[in-house]
Amino acid sequence: MDGMTLIDVFSRWAHIGAAIVLIGGSVFTRFVLMPAATGLQESEHDALRERIMGRWRKFVMGGILVLLVSGFYNYIMVAIPAHKGDGLYHGLMGTKILLGIGAFFLASVLAGRSPRFEGLREQSAKWLGILILISAIVVAIGGFLKVAVKSRPAPDSASTLQSEYPVVRYTAKAR
Ligand code: HEM
Repeated sequence: MDGMTLIDVFSRWAHIGAAIVLIGGSVFTRFVLMPAATGLQESEHDALRERIMGRWRKFVMGGILVLLVSGFYNYIMVAIPAHKGDGLYHGLMGTKILLGIGAFFLASVLAGRSPRFEGLREQSAKWLGILILISAIVVAIGGFLKVAVKSRPAPDSASTLQSEYPVVRYTAKAR
């Protein structure tokens, strides 16, 4: 295994790990913490919220950074060379990236303090639900791209693969 393969594996690990932490934290907040905190008095509730968000904000910012760096690394270094000319792959990846950016925005403003987005935080149950839904779609697109959209064989193995497995030659478009 060469150095580049190790970096590719590390980047994939970081990407999926950050997604697990952020989505797991959002699901826990929406479906465990928020219902459990409903009985608290307003002052207690606000104090708890402030303490939790103070800590969670750091995970959100760190997680977004890791997702962006590892995501662009995976895309530019691994996926673009493997999926040259595959319109379905890049169309879906573009959709995934845009939805991902939408999810980053929602996660940031829900955990943030900007007065401009106080309205969203007042309806945090709704917006957190939307964030979880968007994230689930992003994960589904990522999984679909990995499993269902075949990559092109590496140039040095092309002749072997094409004669042994002609099906590997097709791109999503040819199907
Ligand atoms: C909410 C944000 C995001 C989440 C939750 C997320 C989640 C995931 C997951 C779970 C996978 C692995 C799919 C699998 O192997 O089954 C994946 C793959 C990938 N993601 Fe993301 N991602 C996010 C944002 C991004 C961004 C912003 C980029 C690019 C800039 C990106 C680029 C990629 C690439 C290139 C892959 C590999 C796809 C393939 O195997 O062909 N992701 N993502």
